[in-house]
Amino acid sequence: MKRVGLLGCGTIGSAIALAIESRSIHAELTHIYDASRAAAESLASRLPESRPEITSNPNLLFTSRTDIIVEAAAQQALRDSALAVIQNRKDLMIMSVGALLDDSIHDVIFEAAREFGTRIIIPSGAIAGLDGIRAVRAKLERVTLTTTKHPDSLRGAPFFDKSDVTPDGITSPTVLYEGPAVDAVSLFPANVNVAAALSLAGIGGSRTTVRMVADPNTDKNTHRVEASGTFGGMTFEIENVPSPTNPKTSWLAVLSAVEALGGYCSDDVRSSSNRNGAAYNR
Ligand SMILES: NC(=O)c1ccc[n+]([C@@H]2O[C@H](COP(=O)([O-])OP(=O)(O)OC[C@H]3O[C@@H](n4cnc5c(N)ncnc54)[C@H](O)[C@@H]3O)[C@@H](O)[C@H]2O)c1
Repeated sequence: MKRVGLLGCGTIGSAIALAIESRSIHAELTHIYDASRAAAESLASRLPESRPEITSNPNLLFTSRTDIIVEAAAQQALRDSALAVIQNRKDLMIMSVGALLDDSIHDVIFEAAREFGTRIIIPSGAIAGLDGIRAVRAKLERVTLTTTKHPDSLRGAPFFDKSDVTPDGITSPTVLYEGPAVDAVSLFPANVNVAAALSLAGIGGSRTTVRMVADPNTDKNTHRVEASGTFGGMTFEIENVPSPTNPKTSWLAVLSAVEALGGYCSDDVRSSSNRNGAAYNR
């Protein structure tokens, strides 16, 4: 049975822990860490069967006897920890995929994974259809992602520091940003995971266009992907309900994380379209 260590005990981390606790995922949750000790303790109190050890610092998590570390914390946590996880020869599942829009981070992680022979798992997260994008990658010419969210889901984004627009001042659907995915990451760091996953599956963050729309009339996080090239075209739209505990995180992302870790931990033969835990290599 795989031994799992958890970095981040918030919305996604808790769902993963509870899926292991209820045996929906066939694994052992042995160690957990969160920058907030209270968050780790609160989660541990809900895991009477698993009884994971709460490590007092991230290094003790990375050196623990585990097969995989699940990062469900924050982009900075991934930047700080990915190399240490890989150097300790552990597989790594990444939820803060937005950090990989930075080529230097991406390359360090994937080169280290090759060198140390570990796997990088990137769940499809809050989007679907990436198998199709990957399949036509070499024939893709244009990819546009239009993400529409309630202004509350974008609150706190650095974009608002540099703009006259405020979340409370938005009274109708408003395009806040249109441009390359790589530039969206500094403006909407907590909201670019889908853009990153799409960029990695397709033609990269500089050639993938992101349009960020704030709509005070919506209660969904909607992602519309329009892709075209010599293969033809594809358009798909995902309408996500925000998770109850974090309006920035779509429920689909939580479910996808559980599914991807379940796939990693199971010995089942899985179809390639179902293998959303595949490592991406550009
Ligand atoms: N791939 C996707 O499609 C997708 C979708 C939604 C969210 N995400 C990302 O997944 C991550 C987790 O999302 P969530 O909804 O569970 O967030 P959350 O805010 O509910 O929980 C994050 C937890 O991580 C902890 N944390 C933050 N920085 C840390 C650090 N440096 N070290 C250790 N712990 C740290 C926080 O204290 C918190 O308990 C976020 O980065 C989010 O942007 C990805």
